[in-house]
Amino acid sequence: MSKRLGSLVGGAVVAALSLSVLSAVQAHEPGTFESPIVEQRVAKFKQSGGDIQSVFKKHLPAGDLDAVAAAALRMAAWADEMPEYFPKGSVSVGADKSLWDDFFDFKAKAKANASAARALHTAALSGDKSQVVTAAKRVGGTCKSCHDSYRIKH
Ligand code: HEC
Repeated sequence: MSKRLGSLVGGAVVAALSLSVLSAVQAHEPGTFESPIVEQRVAKFKQSGGDIQSVFKKHLPAGDLDAVAAAALRMAAWADEMPEYFPKGSVSVGADKSLWDDFFDFKAKAKANASAARALHTAALSGDKSQVVTAAKRVGGTCKSCHDSYRIKH
């Protein structure tokens, strides 16, 4: 494959991934949060959404791997504490109630997200851009995996 075609195909993959991970039609309009904890977790999810989007659309094109590393650490830190932001009964329009029936699985999915984000951090420190792209796509996959099961999109 020519180099140019290769990068075009790569771009298409990133665009498709971005669409699936980032096509966040907002579940919550400002001022419509069910409770303070829902408002807090949505703010943190939005930060991760912004971070993964910046990795693909800004930091990678600019070759700014330090920024990728910082974004990866933020996503990992949020993934670590994510389950604590879903106490029983903290229902919302965006969260599928089934997550409290299988909270063990929900926690496993948060953990997978944290590990993938830490792997992205390691890849960014390695300075190998293709490794970073692969790791960033894996992070996106772990977001999607949980969303497919437990997030209600609007
Ligand atoms: C373990 C499960 C899980 C993981 C992992 C996860 N999410 Fe989510 N996400 C949810 C749930 C559940 C909601 C709905 C929260 C609510 O509305 O109460 C949500 C909501 C969101 C929202 C919408 C916030 C809003 O209402 O405007 C965005 C954006 C988002 N997630 C991005 C991400 C990104 C990016 C990642 C990966 C870096 C990620 N999420 C990983 C479960 C997860």
